[in-house]
Amino acid sequence: MKPFILLAVAVLVVFTTFSVVSVEARKHHNKNKSKPHHDNHQKKRSGNGNNNNNNNNNNAPPDHDSFVNPSPAPTQSTVFNVLSFGAKGDGVSDDSQAVVAAWKAACNVSGATLQIPAKLKFLMNPITLQGPCMPQLLFQVDGTILGPPRVGSWPKTSLFQWLNFKWVHDFTIQGSGIVDGQGFDWWTTTPSQVYSIDDQALRFYGSSNVTVRDITIINSPQCHLKFDSSSGVKVENVTISSPDNSPNTDGIHLQNTRDVEIHHSNIGCGDDCVSIQTGCSNIHIHHINCGPGHGISLGGLGKDNTVACVSDILVEEVSLQNTLAGVRIKTWQGGHGSVKNVTFANIEVSEVKVPIIIDQYYCDKKLCKNQTGAVAVSGVKYDQIIGTYSVQPIHLACSSEVPCTDVDLMNIQLKPASLGLGQSRGFPQQALCWNSYGKSQAPLVPSSIDYCLRRDGHGGSVSRVIEKSHERMICL
Ligand SMILES: *[C@@H]1O[C@H](CO)[C@@H](O)[C@H](O)[C@H]1NC(C)=O
Ligand SMILES: *[C@@H]1O[C@H](CO)[C@@H](O)[C@H](O)[C@H]1NC(C)=O
Ligand SMILES: *[C@@H]1O[C@H](CO)[C@@H](O)[C@H](O)[C@H]1NC(C)=O
Ligand SMILES: *[C@@H]1O[C@H](CO)[C@@H](O)[C@H](O)[C@H]1NC(C)=O
Ligand SMILES: *[C@@H]1O[C@H](CO)[C@@H](O)[C@H](O)[C@H]1NC(C)=O
Ligand SMILES: *[C@@H]1O[C@H](CO)[C@@H](O)[C@H](O)[C@H]1NC(C)=O
Repeated sequence: MKPFILLAVAVLVVFTTFSVVSVEARKHHNKNKSKPHHDNHQKKRSGNGNNNNNNNNNNAPPDHDSFVNPSPAPTQSTVFNVLSFGAKGDGVSDDSQAVVAAWKAACNVSGATLQIPAKLKFLMNPITLQGPCMPQLLFQVDGTILGPPRVGSWPKTSLFQWLNFKWVHDFTIQGSGIVDGQGFDWWTTTPSQVYSIDDQALRFYGSSNVTVRDITIINSPQCHLKFDSSSGVKVENVTISSPDNSPNTDGIHLQNTRDVEIHHSNIGCGDDCVSIQTGCSNIHIHHINCGPGHGISLGGLGKDNTVACVSDILVEEVSLQNTLAGVRIKTWQGGHGSVKNVTFANIEVSEVKVPIIIDQYYCDKKLCKNQTGAVAVSGVKYDQIIGTYSVQPIHLACSSEVPCTDVDLMNIQLKPASLGLGQSRGFPQQALCWNSYGKSQAPLVPSSIDYCLRRDGHGGSVSRVIEKSHERMICL
């Protein structure tokens, strides 16, 4: 044996031993250091949906301790179960005030969890849950939250935000639970009896860094999930569902909201699956199934001669089945402002009435007055829109006065949906194209799509005129 090999082995052994010891030491150190009661909560939060699942699958009664892991560390101080605040969870008693009380307590504690426990039903009247709260507040919905079942039972004074979150920052709603608006009575009530057309199941106002994940929202009287005047929004893995004949039941509605990601969710409802309104920018929507419903929409913008600004929208990897529209931009005549930098990519349509729409003559009545002025639409890319339509492949009706510019159609393959035996259909309509400029790139099916766009001659002179126009200058 060469002595230096022995030496090397000895060094290795010593080194290894030291490493093990030091790892052990660090472990112990960490363990001891992590005793403070926030530890449990941190673990739960970083576990996200998975941990959440474990919680759902175990059949333990919904008390404080079943939620967090079984360590004896004090957890009471960060978990606020609505049952401890007097909620009944019987689906009949009004639990709103208990939830408000739990909110007030949780709001005051950093990293708190407000818990709506599994297997119980909490009937709630419209409430406002107001921040600002301490950071990392978590609203854990594992049970069912029920809306007032009858129109008459909603207080007339309420603006019909059912669960209204106001001024919350760094906030998460998650869980395997259901938020059920019980909207059936609303849908059959005549519009004159419905005092506000702006009601929603879950609404966030003036909020930032909000995450909504995993929950199911169903049967809202109208819009299911709305963000207004907010920023930093994430919606992921949610299910939204109401019947296709329920009026005005948007899935997700965004207004004056920026920096939004909505993804990996299933949305079926009686109106737009996602509706993007004025004041929205940097919106990324991807991996969404939409249907039934009216598709993914920007607008209607510019109603009653108002100014609308929407920009930097990316909608991709979306699948639409049996919807009224696929991807749509709709503006009212007489509006001002602009829609710019919008991309719709990798959109799969199946039996969608009209997959691609720009409608600058949007009108929800029989007849709207012809008006001058329009929200200027520019920089709209359609890239890989593939599947079947039942009425018309593409409908680009741009303002006569303010043409749409830089509209690009690339790899559009739309075929008429085949109907079952014995069903008849009017002739599928031809592509409709009016006053839109841009370029197209094969494959284009039907080939008439190729004639849809006008080429902007003279080195993009139309674009340049529009670029400098008053309409474009209104928006930043
Ligand atoms: C950790 O705490 C235990 C007792 O709670 C103690 O025996 C151990 O020495 C501590 N370890 C460290 C690294 O402080
Ligand atoms: C919030 O916490 C502070 C101290 O941590 C306490 O003084 C205050 O009363 C609490 N407020 C509520 C509404 O619980
Ligand atoms: C929101 O998140 C952004 C980016 O992570 C951060 O810079 C900002 O401070 C957060 N704002 C609030 C109010 O939490
Ligand atoms: C999505 O949410 C459901 C509960 O609604 C949950 O079971 C599932 O694990 C979640 N998926 C992911 C990827 O988090
Ligand atoms: C267009 O919008 C996308 C986001 O959808 C953004 O990443 C990109 O930078 C924007 N382009 C311009 C020129 O502003
Ligand atoms: C609006 O203008 C179009 C085209 O000029 C015309 O066909 C239509 O009748 C007008 N509508 C109204 C309500 O004036």
